[in-house]
Amino acid sequence: MTAAARAVVLAAGKGTRMKSARPKVLHELCGRSMLWYVLRAVHDAGIEDVTIVTSAEVAPYVVEVGLSAGHASVRSVLQEPQLGTGHAVQMALAGLAPSGGKILVLNGDMPLVEPELVRAALETGAVALALVTARMPLPSSFGRVVRDGERVARIVEARDASAEELDIDEMNAGLYVYDEAKLRAAVAELSNDNAQAEYYLTDTIGSLVRRGESVAPVVAGDYRSVLGVNDRAELAAAAALLNRRLCEHHMRDGVTIVDPATTYLEPDLTFGTDVTILPNTTLGRRTHVGAHSEIGPNSRLQNARIGEHVVVADSVIVDSTIGDFAYIGPWAHVRAGSEIGTGVRVGNFVEIKNSELAHGAKASHLAYLGDASIGERSNVGAGTITANFDGTNKHRTIVGKDVRIGSNSVLVAPVTLGDRSLTGAGAVVLRDVGDGDRVVGNPARPLPPKPDPD
Ligand code: UD1
Ligand code: MG
Repeated sequence: MTAAARAVVLAAGKGTRMKSARPKVLHELCGRSMLWYVLRAVHDAGIEDVTIVTSAEVAPYVVEVGLSAGHASVRSVLQEPQLGTGHAVQMALAGLAPSGGKILVLNGDMPLVEPELVRAALETGAVALALVTARMPLPSSFGRVVRDGERVARIVEARDASAEELDIDEMNAGLYVYDEAKLRAAVAELSNDNAQAEYYLTDTIGSLVRRGESVAPVVAGDYRSVLGVNDRAELAAAAALLNRRLCEHHMRDGVTIVDPATTYLEPDLTFGTDVTILPNTTLGRRTHVGAHSEIGPNSRLQNARIGEHVVVADSVIVDSTIGDFAYIGPWAHVRAGSEIGTGVRVGNFVEIKNSELAHGAKASHLAYLGDASIGERSNVGAGTITANFDGTNKHRTIVGKDVRIGSNSVLVAPVTLGDRSLTGAGAVVLRDVGDGDRVVGNPARPLPPKPDPD
C-alpha cells in the first residue's frame, strides 16, 4: 500500500548556484516555493509521513510550507553542516525508527514533479530501489545513469564523469523509492571521495548493485517533470513550464485563455464556466472567478472572489470580493478588505480600500474611497475623495442610499451622508448630512429645501 510509505525530502542544500540570500528551495515559481510543489506531490501521492531535511535557514519555514501544501504535519531534521545528499539521508534516517517498509527520497528542488510519477515509483514491486530516470537532451548537469546492458549499474555525477559517461543521455531524476533497511545499510558505507568531497546519495546505487540487490529503473515519460532547479535561469524555465501546465489544465476545464504565454497562474485557482482571461493577466492566492466573467487585459488579482458576469479590465484587485454583474476598470485599484456589490461600476482611476459599495453604486471616474460604506444606487462623482486619515487615525465615511456626491467633493471622515442626500461640486463636507439634505461649498453649508415642483 502506498499510503504506508514514508518520505524524506532533501531541502538543506546551500543552493550556491542561486547566488541568493534566500535558501534555494524557498525560491518561488507561480506563487509557491519549490519545496511547496514537492510536498504537494508527496501529499497527492498519498504519503502522510514526511521528514524534511533542512538547514537552519530553511527550518523556520517548513511547517508552514508543509501545511499549506496539504499535510497535517511534517517533521524536520537539521543537517548542519551540509555534507551532501547521502549525508542528508543519513541525518533523516537517524531521526526515524526503522520501519521495514519502503521509503521515498526526493530532492526538494524538483518543483515540476507530479504525483503520478511518485506513485509509479512506489508501486514498483519488491526491489531494493526503484530509481526514477529520464532521457534528456545534452548537455546537462544531471547525474548520468550508467547501465550494464539493460541493468542499472551505477550513477556518476556530471562533475565526476568521463567524457564518454557525459555522452549518456539517461539522467538521475533525484527521486528514489528504497527498501528502508537496504538504504540504511547502503548510506552507512558512503565515502566522500569525489569532485565535491560530498557524501553522494547516488553512490548507494552502485553499492546496492555490487551486493546483488535489484535496482529497477522507472523511466519518466517526460523529462520536463523531473527538471532540477539549480540556478535562476533554470527557475525561470521551470516557471514557464509550470505556468503552461496550469493554463492547460484550466483551458481543458473550460476557461478561455487568449494568450497562455502572458497569463500567469498559480495553483488552487477556481473558475466557473466560460470565464475568459485576456493577455497580461496574473491570478494568484486562491482567487475564484465566477461563470461568464472576463478578466484582463493587464490585470492582477490576488485572493479575489469574483462573481458571475463580471468584467475586470486593466485593474488590480487584492483581498476583495466583487459581486455579480459588476464592472471594474479600466485602471481601477481595489485594495484589501473591499466588498463590491452586484451591478456596481468602478471606473477609471478609482482606488478603493477597505470599503463596501452596495448594489448598483457607482464610482465611475477618479475617486479615492477609503474606509467607506456607499449605499445602494448612490453615485460618487468624479474626483471625490474620502479624507479618511487625520494624521493619526483612520475614520469611516458612511454614505446612505440614492446619494449623489458632486464632483470633487471631499468627505472628511468621520462623516455620514443620509439617504437621498446630495453634495454640490467641490463641497468639503465636515459635518454629517441628514436624509434628503443638500450641501454646497467649503466648508459645506446646507441649501434651502428644493421648491416643491407643483
Ligand atoms: C542531484 C543528484 C544528481 C541528480 C540531480 C537531479 C546527488 C549527489 N546528485 O544533483 O545525480 O541528477 O540531483 O536534480 O544527489 N541537499 C541537502 N543536503 C546537502 C546537499 C543537498 O539537503 O548536503 C538537497 C538540496 O537542497 C537539493 C537536493 O538535496 O534539494 C539535491 O541537491 P543538489 O545540490 O541540487 O544536487 P544536484 O547537483 O542537483
Ligand atoms: Mg539540484
